[in-house]
Amino acid sequence: MKVLWNDRIVEREEVRIDMEDRGYQYGDGLYEVIRVYNGQLYMVEEHMTRLWTGAEKIKLHLPFSKEELVERLTELTAVENISEGKLYLQVTRGIDSPRNHALPDPKKVIGVLTANIIPYDRPVEKQRKGIAVGIVPDTRWLHCDIKSLSLLGNVMALEHARSRGFEDAVQIRDGKVTEASAANFWLVKDGTIYTHPDGQLILPGITKLKLLALAEKLGLPVKEETFDEAELFTADECFISGSLIEVVPVVKIEEHVVGSGQPGEITKQLHQAYLAEIDRH
Ligand SMILES: Cc1ncc(COP(=O)(O)O)c(C=O)c1O
Repeated sequence: MKVLWNDRIVEREEVRIDMEDRGYQYGDGLYEVIRVYNGQLYMVEEHMTRLWTGAEKIKLHLPFSKEELVERLTELTAVENISEGKLYLQVTRGIDSPRNHALPDPKKVIGVLTANIIPYDRPVEKQRKGIAVGIVPDTRWLHCDIKSLSLLGNVMALEHARSRGFEDAVQIRDGKVTEASAANFWLVKDGTIYTHPDGQLILPGITKLKLLALAEKLGLPVKEETFDEAELFTADECFISGSLIEVVPVVKIEEHVVGSGQPGEITKQLHQAYLAEIDRH
């Protein structure tokens, strides 16, 4: 397998990550997961914008331009010759020795970039049947808008739900629904679609961005507003969204069956529109 290591495409075995890399020691860095459809990176510009916004927020100097990074990622996609896949990339704050909390001088310490791409098929079974989610408290930090390498909060939220037999988590902070463990969460009630507004409490999903635009095109009313945990139990439909999973209906929340227990009509309509958009792309 060939991977990207800074500015070179090399065999995976050639990559050397230093034990004092700040990504390894502190989770000090950012990542992106980009969907590959038909050998093309999907919504890559939007992913770049989010990466650069995150970098600014954590004062991470990215030692390449957006154009250079897209060029390298495109080359990797072509070299690996994967048609349907997922590209993972991460940038750390680099190797800082001796270990020290203070941010290093970006002129002396530069970020370490790695990326790989593997085949990935859409989860058709989940998309067709829907999933069951468990309610878990959102115990993450208050910068969930930053796509940080430190994912322990999300990992533990998923584990909390899975250990009780659910496929994913719906996280609650101060009585409000924030998001799933690695996806945005949506609810439909009386024909209106609700999802948590962007801000520090959720990740501004790239799929969310596209679905908001598609809902508008389809004339479906959307409110980016918080909603209470209790509203989960009176919703007509629920679903989650993410670059890899696209749209996955939520048909059960704890022991409660959502709507008819089948994927909802608005959920299906949005997913169809999303698939049509991919085809156009
Ligand atoms: C916490 C969280 N929320 C939302 C998303 C969905 O983001 P995107 O649509 O950009 O994949 C992800 C994706 O990994 C995530 O980890």
